[in-house]
Amino acid sequence: MSNPVVKSFWDKPTGSWQYVFHDPETMKGAIVDPVLGYDPLAGAIDTVRADEILAYVRLAGIEVVWILDTHPHADHFSAAPYLKERLGAPTAIGEHVPKVQRLWKGIYNLGGDFRTDGSQWDRLLKDGEIFHLGNLPVTVFFSPGHTMASITYVARDAAFVHDTLMMPDSGSSRADFPGGNSRELYRSIRRILELPSNTRLFVGHDYAPNGRAPLCEATVESHIASNRHFAGLPMEDDFVKVRDERDATLPLPKLMLAALQVNIRGGRLPEPESNGLSYLKIPIGYFESRSCNG
Ligand SMILES: [Fe+2]
Repeated sequence: MSNPVVKSFWDKPTGSWQYVFHDPETMKGAIVDPVLGYDPLAGAIDTVRADEILAYVRLAGIEVVWILDTHPHADHFSAAPYLKERLGAPTAIGEHVPKVQRLWKGIYNLGGDFRTDGSQWDRLLKDGEIFHLGNLPVTVFFSPGHTMASITYVARDAAFVHDTLMMPDSGSSRADFPGGNSRELYRSIRRILELPSNTRLFVGHDYAPNGRAPLCEATVESHIASNRHFAGLPMEDDFVKVRDERDATLPLPKLMLAALQVNIRGGRLPEPESNGLSYLKIPIGYFESRSCNG
């Protein structure tokens, strides 16, 4: 009955947290939310972060049996296919990912050959489903709000809560992307905070505010005590007001329009054209500009 060993990796350009967690009894593990680097100015991708993860699992002797995403990310490309190619492990995401694919298929006006059935992943996970890393059970919580398909992975005293809560001094994640919903986010967070008080919650992002070091982990107890948006467990309407007002001031993520078209393909670039290059497509005029506020 060992708790998982968790190793975190921060991607500074996007403030994203990636994780490897494993069962110390059997050394079987999973990767959560790996990042593929993307430089929009050069149109270049890199595998620096994913290669760090590969080096770690090899050195630690971890057998990776799952490559997991919590949701289709809006601020970075997923490195899941790259890691699958090297490790042979299957990929998974939440079962509601087809809803996100249908939504963005419309925004990008993708052709009929773009599949919106989630078949770009090896497995679509349902709420309440349990899978194992060796002797370690991992339970799936459907936790929408930030996206329509977000899920949380709960493994004994650790939970990978992605973009629901952020660190206590930052509060919660935004709920204003297409398909986002602050009421759903509230309910998802309330469910996470019903986990035992010593559960370690590992967040999806940290932007190291006020010059502090980047952090990724806080217990349920510390979120209830001091989370900027959730201390003392606010009422739904109060949270929704704070969240929606805050979201109205935030610019869209710099990489959103690039990232979603890769991530709804399971982290793959669009099919190469006749010259062998892939191209990204940017809709003009679909989103209002919110670039003046921070
Ligand atoms: Fe996200």
